[in-house]
Amino acid sequence: MSATDALAYEVRVRGHLDDHWSSWLGGATITRNEDGTSTLTGTADQSQLHGVLTALRDVGVELLHLNTLDPASRVSALNRPLLTDRLTLRPATLADVEPTWNYRRLDEVNEWLTGCPATLGGYRSLFTRPDRLATTVIVELRAGTVIGDFMLRRHDAWAQADAAERAAGQQVELGWVLDPGHTGHGYATEAVHELLRHSFEDLGVHRVTADCFLANQASWRLMERLGMRREAHTRRDALHQSGQWLDSLSYALLADEWPPAAGSADGGRRA
Ligand SMILES: CC(C)(COP(=O)(O)OP(=O)(O)OC[C@H]1O[C@@H](n2cnc3c(N)ncnc32)[C@H](O)[C@@H]1OP(=O)(O)O)[C@@H](O)C(=O)NCCC(=O)NCCS
Repeated sequence: MSATDALAYEVRVRGHLDDHWSSWLGGATITRNEDGTSTLTGTADQSQLHGVLTALRDVGVELLHLNTLDPASRVSALNRPLLTDRLTLRPATLADVEPTWNYRRLDEVNEWLTGCPATLGGYRSLFTRPDRLATTVIVELRAGTVIGDFMLRRHDAWAQADAAERAAGQQVELGWVLDPGHTGHGYATEAVHELLRHSFEDLGVHRVTADCFLANQASWRLMERLGMRREAHTRRDALHQSGQWLDSLSYALLADEWPPAAGSADGGRRA
């Protein structure tokens, strides 16, 4: 199957399907949802997907929803895996819903995030939105364990009309969420270092930015470890669920500042 005819698919059916159906359904990943439905995800060409749907019909399983996404048509800034000493960074797929949900649903992870839907089904709808999927970078240990989902969103810099063409795609915004079971080992530092390198050296962008709350010390310490510059501190511009108004910070790095001086952007390769 070539990259151009591969479709990522997501099929929701009524009832709970056992894992043993997977091989019969072309190796689809089966997730059993709390609402009594099952979701099958995988990658297939058109005729293989047709085979999956026919197999489901033949055993009398009721099809509730079908969602397909052509990976070749996605506007994904990360179109190939990136390797670091300890990690693989790769584009997200529909099969990453459950591994990321396992930590995304935890309160400690959401302390400084917008929030997480209460059910796996709600989370799946959010995660698989094409715009979200296209900007999500999965971080895996080299052995294949998913330990985080980061964001790499390439966008146009502001420009006057006559310069707009030259400013197209000249900025990247980064974001990060690490499974709390894997914090404290420098994995986020290593992954963000690679995303900075990719943005400047592979994509050739002019500027990379990221935001966080002042109260999210782990996040701004990460940016400072990597040599990013604190450019803005806005006062009480965001409301936390606790009722507190939060200060926000904006960080950035420019292409001509890359790579930062030795001792900052070490990519997590310290002993
Ligand atoms: C923000 C977040 C990704 C930072 O994770 P983190 O584990 O602190 O970052 P790293 O993986 O780079 O690890 C750095 C820590 O490991 C230590 N470390 C151990 N080995 C290391 C190595 N080889 N290289 C660098 N640091 C290493 C560092 O000293 C540092 O610990 P410290 O802060 O106590 O000094 C994480 O806290 C998170 O996902 N939070 C929840 C979601 C969130 O808030 N996202 C950001 C929204 S803006």
